[in-house]
Amino acid sequence: KGNVAVDIILLGPPGAGKGTQAGRLVADRGMVQLSTGDMLRAAVKAGTEVGLKAKAVMDAGELVSDEIVSAIIGERLDQLGKDVGLIFDGYPRTAAQAEALDALLAARGRKLDYVIELAVDEDALVDRIVGRYTCAVCGEGYHERYKPPKVEGTCDVCGNHEFKRRPDDNAETVRTRMAEYRAKTAPILPIYDARGLVRRVDGMADIGHVTQAIEAILDGKA
Ligand code: AP5
Repeated sequence: KGNVAVDIILLGPPGAGKGTQAGRLVADRGMVQLSTGDMLRAAVKAGTEVGLKAKAVMDAGELVSDEIVSAIIGERLDQLGKDVGLIFDGYPRTAAQAEALDALLAARGRKLDYVIELAVDEDALVDRIVGRYTCAVCGEGYHERYKPPKVEGTCDVCGNHEFKRRPDDNAETVRTRMAEYRAKTAPILPIYDARGLVRRVDGMADIGHVTQAIEAILDGKA
């Protein structure tokens, strides 16, 4: 495989920076981001059957069923060529999803290259999550303290002035999301570790340094 077609999982608790880093890898390397959170939010917005089932579960900070998320990942994979590198962001989140992903990739002649663990201090994550917001028009992500727009109240990318926050980004729901991560998602790390796939990155470093650390892994330099 060349660099471009490396397939990775970004694994870490809510607020670890999975979406932020995936966005940078898409921009820097033309990789494709597969975020089940984004796909589910799009389904909720569109009012599809999946969206209707997922909304209450997501608002409570719990996990949507394995069948639903693995099905939407499978559909998305069918739309992609073999020559692009994939970034799984927020998937898999359970052992059953990890198994499903292996099967989905194998059926398409692909396999995982790395599972990149974003190692973070959970106490700092609540602050990251409750401080974040996105441009209501183009979706660019911001943070009150760590990534404010260059001109206050104006999106750097599209120049609009409307911003929004996720309904599940309040302190109470974040606690449930963290508990779900610890109970169901963290246990898949040792499974991947046993296969020699896990690379640990310090997710508490600043955003650019985290990207550099990930890119070094993708380039085989770390
Ligand atoms: P999802 O959308 O996947 O949310 P999450 O895992 O809770 O992750 P987040 O988007 O909150 O965090 P992130 O790691 O992407 O951090 P970000 O880069 O934004 O899932 C939402 C819900 O959907 C789930 O609760 C569940 O209900 C459902 N769902 C989704 N996938 C599912 C699945 N597979 N199975 C079942 N259910 C599923 O960064 C956070 C903030 O910090 C940003 O403001 C950013 O600017 C800032 N920041 C990032 N990195 C740094 C840094 N290094 N230093 C300082 N600030 C930083």
